[in-house]
Amino acid sequence: MHSVGAGVRKAAHAVGTLLEDPAQGLDWFRNGLEIVRGLPGGRGENLYRPSEAPQGRLHELVGASWPCEYKDEFDALWPPVVTSLEAQGSGFGERYDSDEALARATWCCVRHLCPERVVETGVARGVNSRIILEGLERNGTGHLWSIDLPPVLEGWRTQSGAAVTQGLRGRWTFLEGSSRRHLRPLLADLGSVDIFIHDSLHSAANMRFEMSTAWPHVRRGGVMFADDIESNPAFAMFTSALPSTSVLVARQDAMKKGFFGAAVKA
Ligand SMILES: C[S@@+](CC[C@H](N)C(=O)[O-])C[C@H]1O[C@@H](n2cnc3c(N)ncnc32)[C@H](O)[C@@H]1O
Repeated sequence: MHSVGAGVRKAAHAVGTLLEDPAQGLDWFRNGLEIVRGLPGGRGENLYRPSEAPQGRLHELVGASWPCEYKDEFDALWPPVVTSLEAQGSGFGERYDSDEALARATWCCVRHLCPERVVETGVARGVNSRIILEGLERNGTGHLWSIDLPPVLEGWRTQSGAAVTQGLRGRWTFLEGSSRRHLRPLLADLGSVDIFIHDSLHSAANMRFEMSTAWPHVRRGGVMFADDIESNPAFAMFTSALPSTSVLVARQDAMKKGFFGAAVKA
């Protein structure tokens, strides 16, 4: 529960940013409106029956062998990512950080599909960005474009992208601001993408916007991920209108307790 003091500090901080960077201030304002408007729409957890063996199923959907030949790589990579973030002040996974289950699924898709173009929305401290970039580096090919409206909360704002080490940044383009501002022009520029990941604002309106904007650009055999799909019915509704698409729903790890979804284009 937030105290009144914390709410006032957050509002004052947002006003400060509005004056300093009006475009970003307006993005935050729009986010706030979308959250308030979306509240009567309800949550979506009852719409999903998560897979009992999601990682194996994901491999089947993307045509990769199972058990995964890249499992040991991920197992070795994950603990240093967590400890490097713990060393920066906030505990790992406390608020915005992506969880291990989604990171593992992303890792496997990056290693198996060898993507040239990956786009994600929502970076925060960059857990998934780091995982994707490590995968691209091992593949020796590919680039990641990340769109993020940095968190309003001060401690988080200063740690934007903190998990991404300098050596990995050559394959990374970071676009600061909302997906409403950057996603369409970016995708128009790129044409097609191999993997798209939604992990920004989980309002129904924003999820609908991002999925309907990105999906036409996902190549055949490519994957679209969406995190925290239990937040509202958007993922269920969007994917139910894609009859020839394989859809997977998976549980996040025990710490987060929600779901992520993946749609693989036929
Ligand atoms: C759940 S966190 C992302 C976690 C990240 N994917 C990871 O791997 O740890 C959500 C991020 O999206 C940002 N965000 C919120 N609204 C946004 C919007 N409209 N467009 C883009 N990013 C947004 C938040 O400030 C935050 O940095």
